[in-house]
Amino acid sequence: RAAEHSPAVVIGTGYGAAVTALRLGAAGVPTVMLEMGRLWNTPAEDGKIFSDMLAPDRRAMWFKNRTEAPLASFLWLDIANRDIEPYAGVLDRVNYGDMSVYVGRGVGGGSLVNGAMAVTPKRWYFEEILPEVDADEMYGRYFPLANSMLGTNHIDQDWFETCDSYQFARVSRAAAEKAGYKTTFVPSVYDFDYMRREEDGLVPRSALASEVIYGNNHGKRSLDQTYLAAALGTGNVTIQTLSEVRDIAQQQDGSYALSVRRIDELGNVLDVRQLTTDYLFLGAGSLGSTELLVRARDTGKLPNLGEAVGEGWGTNGNVMLGRANHMRDLVGPLESGMPAMGIDAWEDPVNPVFAEIAPVPAGVETWASLYLAITRNPERGSFRYDPGADRAVLQWREEQGQPSIDAAEQLFDRINSVNGTSYRYDLFGDTRAFENRFTYHPLGGLVLGEATDLYGRVKGYRNLYVTDGSLIPGSTGVNPFVTITALAERNIARVLAEDVRTR
Ligand code: FDA
Repeated sequence: RAAEHSPAVVIGTGYGAAVTALRLGAAGVPTVMLEMGRLWNTPAEDGKIFSDMLAPDRRAMWFKNRTEAPLASFLWLDIANRDIEPYAGVLDRVNYGDMSVYVGRGVGGGSLVNGAMAVTPKRWYFEEILPEVDADEMYGRYFPLANSMLGTNHIDQDWFETCDSYQFARVSRAAAEKAGYKTTFVPSVYDFDYMRREEDGLVPRSALASEVIYGNNHGKRSLDQTYLAAALGTGNVTIQTLSEVRDIAQQQDGSYALSVRRIDELGNVLDVRQLTTDYLFLGAGSLGSTELLVRARDTGKLPNLGEAVGEGWGTNGNVMLGRANHMRDLVGPLESGMPAMGIDAWEDPVNPVFAEIAPVPAGVETWASLYLAITRNPERGSFRYDPGADRAVLQWREEQGQPSIDAAEQLFDRINSVNGTSYRYDLFGDTRAFENRFTYHPLGGLVLGEATDLYGRVKGYRNLYVTDGSLIPGSTGVNPFVTITALAERNIARVLAEDVRTR
């Protein structure tokens, strides 16, 4: 049987992939997207598409026997996690020794599970991490384009000051300001008007019903509602789900042959098919795209790939921590699952920190303030191919996370000392105050200008491109999806103008 052929193939359906498919489709290029996760559009027996954080079920996680939530415990009790049936659920935690990486699985990638914070990086820092990218063009054109396409919106500040949902953020803001730190509102792709109506009891609750990391049933403008809907609307883009690309090889005529493993929702392998394409775009995320190219290089299928493939990976300096609030500082039982404020100490010349004020959507008073701090950790990891497991394994040692802790500690020690508060030691399964054994923000592995040229063209091959977070060298100083989206817009504009035959 002859292999199926598509002029263009995009692997993945996250941010970079969705941008690329839309622009290819709009230019008239027939494009197939291959996504290993499922399409999340059908309610289960409970009438909901996704399960929530308080009662997660098999929909929550990608083939696990038990959920693996970031807050492992509360008062040292293992109450956050549940035994579940292995299933093609929406959130994966990929464990590599000292580092675990959370990623989304399904049509929309990370947009299905993330906190929706839509933050444009500080220009001076963007110029520092990607000095060869024209910042005028990015800030004049591609960041605004990305934000408008993603549906970024801003909270009504009067509502913020009076609503129940952000009492937790107001308590954290007061503590930060007392210590002399600046806070800032954070734009979001969660619809803040919908959230207001949730609080008023007018619509079904989602952000206010402990829905975040296992998916939102309402309110969130995930990619399936924005870029991917537009891509499908061109009539030139199709999405194949539960289809994992395992191998990439180049054929004699320069086109690419993919082997694609299809599974059902319970993980049974249905078949392994071949698909060929003239233009191949990798948008499988930092872990997925890097693994594909590391495997292709080290199994000899794409032997011209260089040493930069698999290098330059970072955690965006992620570290999570909690503070214990005074008994009088109630945050209330209702916490919006979507962060809307951050402590902005990124201008600190020694220890820049951007700390999102994160919710603990437990449905009860927690007397806790939680933070996901983004720091400028210079440590980088790399991926090595493990032939036995046929897997690219991240090399990262626990000590490499220490600079993130040091930076966060400096800021939060000060907040604690000025406010007479302390850290929470009961949240991460043992007695640590700082959790840096996981990241939400994997970046790098196929860094722009190193593994690829300055537009994501993979070095050593023609018509092979990287479009996602693996292009960014380990750090972007803020939550990354706006940066990934804007960079993908910039790169595909150039590639369409110079490389792709369009009708
Ligand atoms: P992304 O990871 O989105 O998509 C890759 C897709 O490819 C996935 O759907 C995956 O299943 C698929 N795939 C992988 N390998 C494949 C293969 N071999 N074959 C086929 N398909 C394959 N960021 C932010 O800016 N604001 C925020 O508030 C948050 N909050 C947040 C919370 C949580 C819990 C997480 C896990 C992450 C965030 N993030 C975030 C991070 C953000 O979601 C992340 O940076 C982007 O989703 C990355 O976009 P990419 O395009 O790189 O890939």
